[in-house]
Amino acid sequence: MPGAAGTVLITGASSGIGAATARRLAARGHDLVLIARREERLKALAAELSAEHGTAVVAAPLDLEHTEELADALTAVLAALPGPLAGAVLAAGHGRGHGPVREADSAPWESQLRVNLLAPMIVTRQLLPELDARGGDLVLVGSVFGTRPSPGYAAYSATKHGLAGFVRSLAEEERPPGGCRICLISPGATNTEFASVLSGAPAPRVHQVTDWPYHPLLAEDVAAAVEWAMSRPGHARIAELTLDPADARY
Ligand SMILES: NC(=O)c1ccc[n+]([C@@H]2O[C@H](COP(=O)([O-])OP(=O)(O)OC[C@H]3O[C@@H](n4cnc5c(N)ncnc54)[C@H](OP(=O)(O)O)[C@@H]3O)[C@@H](O)[C@H]2O)c1
Repeated sequence: MPGAAGTVLITGASSGIGAATARRLAARGHDLVLIARREERLKALAAELSAEHGTAVVAAPLDLEHTEELADALTAVLAALPGPLAGAVLAAGHGRGHGPVREADSAPWESQLRVNLLAPMIVTRQLLPELDARGGDLVLVGSVFGTRPSPGYAAYSATKHGLAGFVRSLAEEERPPGGCRICLISPGATNTEFASVLSGAPAPRVHQVTDWPYHPLLAEDVAAAVEWAMSRPGHARIAELTLDPADARY
């Protein structure tokens, strides 16, 4: 039987902010669809959450970089939903290929544009008709680099600026009732595998921010913000929310 709280689809669910969000939402009684590439991670998390909370959790391994195939792949995922779609949290993203623009390769730029910007746009377009028309929640994870200049991260910053523009425009199109509640959550530095992916370090990916000159956020901090935004009463929309490490100066 579907969980009473409804199903939430999460991209980037194999680690970091997405995985922490999955844990929070499962504890609130949501059934889940978990999307990322690393199938074993998704399956392990699905088993953990089903055992702990009794929720239905579907692991849906998908490479979001393959944007040409995304619509068909998502159609298959949506056909296997455990119940009506109450919300979606689009957290998948990476910053691989950072460095000065003068020294940049095109391939990581293209990958970032696909995973961080085009994929959430395509996924959003496909999910909107599936989301609860009384006000299903769509939360997109941006970044503080989507509002600030970020030397060394120009491509990543461009994808997150682009995402912010997409979300702000979408939110003017979508209003409940009859439309969805749209929220942009923009974290600052967060202690996840992100930095490890960024540096191109070999597997296994690790949390590696011990040398940072401030205390980063934890994935759980961002997940708590996502859960808070999604659990506001129907008349209230958290349009945008920025989280920063309290002692950070970028
Ligand atoms: N950590 C930070 O400092 C920070 C700050 C601001 C914003 N953010 C944003 O927060 C979001 C989550 O990042 P995180 O910090 O939680 O880092 P993370 O632990 O590295 O998580 C990134 C997630 O994205 C997934 N992903 C990456 N490429 C993918 C692809 N091609 N197809 C499908 N899934 C893919 C990864 O799964 P697989 O590798 O298994 O596919 C993983 O689940 C990202 O959008 C990031 O830009 C992070």
